[in-house]
Amino acid sequence: MSDQFEILSAGASSDAIGLVSQLGLEELDGELGRPRVVAAMIASADGRAAVEGRAGGLGGPADRAVLRELRCSVDAILIGPTTLVDERYSTLLDSDHRSRRIAAGLSAEPIAATISRRLNPQLAELELFAQPEQRIVVYSESNGPLEASGADLTVVRSQPGEMTLAGCLEDLYANRGVRTLLSEGGPTLLRALAAEGLIDDFIFTVSPLLVAGSAPTVLSGEPFEPPLGLQLENVWRSDSFLFLRYTRQC
Ligand SMILES: NC(=O)c1ccc[n+]([C@@H]2O[C@H](COP(=O)([O-])OP(=O)(O)OC[C@H]3O[C@@H](n4cnc5c(N)ncnc54)[C@H](OP(=O)(O)O)[C@@H]3O)[C@@H](O)[C@H]2O)c1
Repeated sequence: MSDQFEILSAGASSDAIGLVSQLGLEELDGELGRPRVVAAMIASADGRAAVEGRAGGLGGPADRAVLRELRCSVDAILIGPTTLVDERYSTLLDSDHRSRRIAAGLSAEPIAATISRRLNPQLAELELFAQPEQRIVVYSESNGPLEASGADLTVVRSQPGEMTLAGCLEDLYANRGVRTLLSEGGPTLLRALAAEGLIDDFIFTVSPLLVAGSAPTVLSGEPFEPPLGLQLENVWRSDSFLFLRYTRQC
């Protein structure tokens, strides 16, 4: 810890491709036994993670470009069921990004994975579940029905009380070839990932807005005692948006 300040002056400019390439996603740690996990979240300058119940009101072109580029680069994305429903997930990538993935030897779309103990029935109504090229994996402790109207859906069921995020990530790694994973939240899922020590990189975007009200912050749930430490690795700016990349403090 230091009490000295470094002035972050304007450096070389980059685009979303350059920003994501600095993460070095290809540098994998085979000893993890699970995918490398990048979590990406956005909050207003006063810390709120949603405007009128959705994150979209916080974003801008650069933030959306980074999210698309991350989706374009990973084997799977993990999204909480409430976020999937609230944000009305449909297609993940445009045709240009799909072509780039195919040219890079990846599937056209990353796998979309979610974890829902009670198996939220609203998931089946999402447009994402109707996309023919979309592979979806749902982890649940419920025996309830869930069908997709077009997507390639796998439901992996566990006994009540036996499902862990670590177990879900191990299944994605060992059985579905997932080496890199992007978590898009929400705040409840992000806290659970952090609690199990499963976040390797945290891309935190500060949106130039003040929101107030009672929207969640980027992590929801019981406090960590003591708080979990992070190490700042990179800082980028686009207009008045700030992009911070943290790794876990060992
Ligand atoms: N600012 C941002 O970057 C950002 C990103 C994403 C979302 N959001 C916002 O966040 C809000 C939704 O977030 P949220 O925190 O309410 O929901 P969430 O994290 O998307 O989903 C919560 C649900 O995930 C399941 N879950 C989470 N951890 C689990 C675990 N360890 N084991 C089993 N299941 C687990 C549970 O589902 P079941 O109840 O089905 O068991 C839980 O109710 C929306 O307003 C959305 O717009 C903001």
